[in-house]
Amino acid sequence: MKKIKNIGVLTSGGDAPGMNAAIRAVVRAGFYHGFEVYGIRKGYNGLITGDVHRIDPRDVSGIIKRGGTFLKTARCKEFMEEAGQKKAVAMAGVFGLDVIVVIGGDGSYKGAYEVSKHGLPVICMPGTIDNDIASTDYTIGYDTALNTAQDAIDKIRDTSYSHERCSVLEVMGRRAGYIALTIGITVGAESIVIPEKEFNLEIDILRPLIEARNRGKADFIVVVAEGVGKVMDIAKNITERTGIEARATILGHIQRGGSPTVHDRYMASLMGAKAVDLIKEGRLNQVVCFKNDEIIGVEIGEALSMKKTLDPAIIKTSKVLSI
Ligand code: ADP
Ligand code: F6P
Repeated sequence: MKKIKNIGVLTSGGDAPGMNAAIRAVVRAGFYHGFEVYGIRKGYNGLITGDVHRIDPRDVSGIIKRGGTFLKTARCKEFMEEAGQKKAVAMAGVFGLDVIVVIGGDGSYKGAYEVSKHGLPVICMPGTIDNDIASTDYTIGYDTALNTAQDAIDKIRDTSYSHERCSVLEVMGRRAGYIALTIGITVGAESIVIPEKEFNLEIDILRPLIEARNRGKADFIVVVAEGVGKVMDIAKNITERTGIEARATILGHIQRGGSPTVHDRYMASLMGAKAVDLIKEGRLNQVVCFKNDEIIGVEIGEALSMKKTLDPAIIKTSKVLSI
């Protein structure tokens, strides 16, 4: 096997708080173990165009507490095609990059898998607020997004309380309901709607609200996952059919920003160090995972074949607690 000298690192897909901490960990651990680390800007776009720059440990000082990603990120259409992937592999050759660390979500992992098949080794790290990567129990950015959403919804609850209204809130998560379910439980939502479970407007939203009102509740929160959407319609139906005045809010990109929480900085740091350990041990084409309280490496093909499902027991508990 070729001796690894140069590591490239990039962030791809939607940004997530903690990506900077992850880059920093790769740069510092890389330096410690004698590798040269190169930052690739703007995701796979930068790998195709050669937006590649040496990074030293000092270049990453102070970024552990910053949201976003200082390497910038992007969704790269060209990379979806084999021609784009081949261009990227050729450009890695121009800079002498022996392995690429990709910090991103499921889509970025698929792209990494493709380049690995073209002969450029990869290591992936889970960076997305959605927590929807099957191979890992935790993705960098999830905790910060939850805390941001919780803070916003707590504030909205105050005004719902004063006006005796119902707030219908859409939270992010793409096609997954992890953010919605967790946040719904932690803000004490009266109803939580997730894409993993078909919902019926009358049974899952209107009836619980009416029953809660009949028990004396005067303000209400309905959390809806982005993968379900339709918050305006839901709010209109609540107002017209229950007499409870409803307002819809889409929390949106606020959930992607902000200084990462302790948990995200910690996980990003340990996962970044693990990525470099895997390289040092010659374990390439691996994804870094958090499983059973341990940070491990799993072969990328195997990781991509895994499925992730929301725990039905937690869905059930969320219903019990919303009474
Ligand atoms: P995330 O990584 O957050 O899931 P995306 O799904 O947008 O975000 O993926 C990020 C980028 O990864 C895409 O813009 C594209 O460049 C690359 N990518 C996604 N899916 C594939 C695929 N099936 N094959 C090759 N590249 C892909
Ligand atoms: O994957 C992170 C995420 O914020 C999803 O929750 C959401 O569906 C998507 O990215 C939004 O993407 P964009 O920033 O391109 O609008």
